[in-house]
Amino acid sequence: MQTTGNTILITGGTSGIGRALAEAFRKLGNHVIVAGRRKALLDEITAANPGMQSAVLDVQNLPSLRAFAASIVHQYPKLNVLINNAGIMKSENLGDGSDNSGAIDATVTTNLLAPLHLTAALLPHLKKQPRSVVMTVSSGLAFMPMAVTPTYCATKAAIHSWTQSLRYQLRDTSVEVLELVPPYVQTELQGSRQASDPRAMPLHDFIDEVMNIFKTEPNAKEILVQRVHAMRFAAEKGQPAFDEFFKTLNDRMH
Ligand SMILES: NC(=O)c1ccc[n+]([C@@H]2O[C@H](COP(=O)([O-])OP(=O)(O)OC[C@H]3O[C@@H](n4cnc5c(N)ncnc54)[C@H](OP(=O)(O)O)[C@@H]3O)[C@@H](O)[C@H]2O)c1
Repeated sequence: MQTTGNTILITGGTSGIGRALAEAFRKLGNHVIVAGRRKALLDEITAANPGMQSAVLDVQNLPSLRAFAASIVHQYPKLNVLINNAGIMKSENLGDGSDNSGAIDATVTTNLLAPLHLTAALLPHLKKQPRSVVMTVSSGLAFMPMAVTPTYCATKAAIHSWTQSLRYQLRDTSVEVLELVPPYVQTELQGSRQASDPRAMPLHDFIDEVMNIFKTEPNAKEILVQRVHAMRFAAEKGQPAFDEFFKTLNDRMH
């Protein structure tokens, strides 16, 4: 991915990885639009980053995504990068009879259906640009499930699969299809404790490494920091090693 001269829409740009990516791309002189539900945070970010724009967006409102896409294209006709970053992660107990339907629907809608629909709505525009990018955000957990968040891991595995198909279908177009695969990173995705969990990668280290990959490996399709390699390539170590990794990871959760 070329890291300058872009007009970039980042969903889930109000906090964590989305906000940090937005600021990193803005520092490189790109035109950046952050989208999210929390208007107060959007205002804070645009005030702190002159030139950055914002848009209120609830990606769970699937029927609104087409009109949102049309209005963004109208406002920013040079839009050429979509980063589908918005996501939620919820624990679910599948064995105790509790009703997880709210978490299931919200997670599938936010993490999977929304990026599919928003990408579809923006693709006709992106295909007309001389160079453009659709980037999805999966997770190391797409490749090594963490059982306490079953729907989350399933949506991330699905978005990985879908990204591969999209890349193949768009192979002869101007649209580059990328997948950012974060490891466990210090954000508030699972609440405030995660933001200072020493087992999670500091956010600024993660973003620095990601931006360096963009710079030094402009043709990378999957953006993989070192910390995520063990999960990303776990299946390639063979079934016994994969099973051992899976058991160790999940036993640690109890
Ligand atoms: N941190 C990690 O360890 C980790 C690891 C692997 C993958 N990831 C992925 O990285 C992405 C960013 O997560 P994060 O860690 O940065 O967590 P975060 O700080 O909680 O950020 C999540 C972002 O998603 C937005 N969002 C959630 N629901 C939304 C909705 N209905 N409509 C619009 N925006 C919505 C939130 O904005 P509003 O609340 O303002 O709407 C927020 O900006 C997610 O896709 C996550 O799955 C994170």
